[in-house]
Amino acid sequence: MPRRSADGYDLVAIALHWLIAVLIFGLLVLGFVMTRQSIDPALQFALFQWHKSFGMLALLLAAVRLVRSLTVARVRPVEGLGALERRSAHGMHYLLLALAVAVPVAGWMIASVSPLEIPTFAFNLVVIPHLPVPKSEAAEAWWTTVHAVLAYSTLALVFLHSAAALYHHYVRHDDVLTRMLGSRYRTVKTSIEEPGP
Ligand code: HEM
Ligand code: HEM
Repeated sequence: MPRRSADGYDLVAIALHWLIAVLIFGLLVLGFVMTRQSIDPALQFALFQWHKSFGMLALLLAAVRLVRSLTVARVRPVEGLGALERRSAHGMHYLLLALAVAVPVAGWMIASVSPLEIPTFAFNLVVIPHLPVPKSEAAEAWWTTVHAVLAYSTLALVFLHSAAALYHHYVRHDDVLTRMLGSRYRTVKTSIEEPGP
């Protein structure tokens, strides 16, 4: 049987949502800064290692969240949403779940296909193995583009997603934002339905 509080998102879902959001924002900024050409090479190497470390952490959390979203019962949409609003919210959530996994996987592919074979020392603790894929400069350039396009597309979608949340809070005055902040902020109760994000 699917498990989830009948009273909105459970604490694990809320913690995962905000932790992944913070990681993604931080990684976008770090990724942008570390790829500037003017940067000192030693600093750049260190920033790449931090980027890869936090990126792999983001991947781990996103994978847990994706599995939970597909197996644990999901929260019913708030009262008063039209069919189009419900569908677009679902579509956006699935897209964000997929991108939160796809962006770091594309990053992992860059490190794995690079002929330079620079190891990933996650938090200076463990070496993350490269994926078993053929190495070439062409593949490295391709995955670098894929990673950047997916990362900046995620930023654009998160902007829309956040704008929708703020619209619901300040214009519609419903529980869309508050139920992602925790039960103490809630004003209206929701209940569970079938699995999904
Ligand atoms: C949610 C997770 C991640 C986000 C949001 C993210 C974001 C970014 C961004 C915005 C850039 C700069 C793109 C550009 O302006 O050219 C970048 C570059 C890069 N990322 Fe990530 N990244 C993530 C995870 C990872 C992971 C897990 C790895 C590897 C294990 C990785 C490896 C790289 C590398 C090697 C580059 C530099 C590519 C180049 O040479 O230009 N990233 N990332
Ligand atoms: C400041 C940034 C963000 C805000 C204000 C925000 C706000 C929200 C809110 C209010 C909900 C609940 C919607 C509902 O119950 O109908 C939600 C759900 C969701 N958000 Fe965000 N969000 C942000 C960033 C992100 C990021 C970076 C991602 C992932 C890339 C993300 C992915 C999701 C997903 C997949 C859901 C569906 C519920 C779940 O599976 O956890 N959000 N968000």
